[in-house]
Amino acid sequence: MAFERTYIMLKPDCLKRGLMGEVIGRIEKKGYRIADCKMLNLDEAILREHYAHIADRPFFPEIVAYMTSGPVLAMIVEGENAVKGMRILMGATKFEEATAGTIRGDLAFCTSENIIHGSDSVENAEIEIRRFFGC
Ligand code: PPS
Repeated sequence: MAFERTYIMLKPDCLKRGLMGEVIGRIEKKGYRIADCKMLNLDEAILREHYAHIADRPFFPEIVAYMTSGPVLAMIVEGENAVKGMRILMGATKFEEATAGTIRGDLAFCTSENIIHGSDSVENAEIEIRRFFGC
C-alpha cells in the first residue's frame, strides 16, 4: 500500500445536475480525504494541455465545448492507493461499460458527459495537480 494523492475533477454535468454532494460523499465514505478543492472555469488553452493525448481525436471539439460549458470542481484527493482506488470508484470511461455501484455506472448516461475525471497514474496525478493547483 502506498499513500498517494490524485487529481479529481467534477465535470460541468456533475455540477449542473446537483450531484457534487453525492459524488463527494462517495469519495469520503470510501475513506479518502479531500486535501484541497476549488471551482474553476476552464478555457481551451488549459484543456488542450490537459487533454493533449486526445487533441487529434474527432470528439475533441465536443470535449472543449462541454468542459467550458460551466464550472468544474478541481480537487486533490489523498489516501492509500488513491490513484487506482479512485479510478475503481469512478468506473469505466465509457458509461455503458461502467458497472453498477461505481460513480459513472450509477450516475452517467453518456460518455461525453461522464461526471468525473481522475488521474490514470501516479506520475500523471502529480502533473495534473501541478497544472491545476501549482503544487
Ligand atoms: S481514449 O478513447 O482511449 O483515448 O479515451 P480515454 O483516454 O479513456 O479518454 C480520454 C478522455 O476523453 C473522454 N472521451 C470522450 N469524450 C467524448 N466522446 C467520446 N466518445 C469519448 N471517449 C473518451 C474521456 O471521458 C476522457 O476524459 P477524462 O476527463 O480523462 O475522463
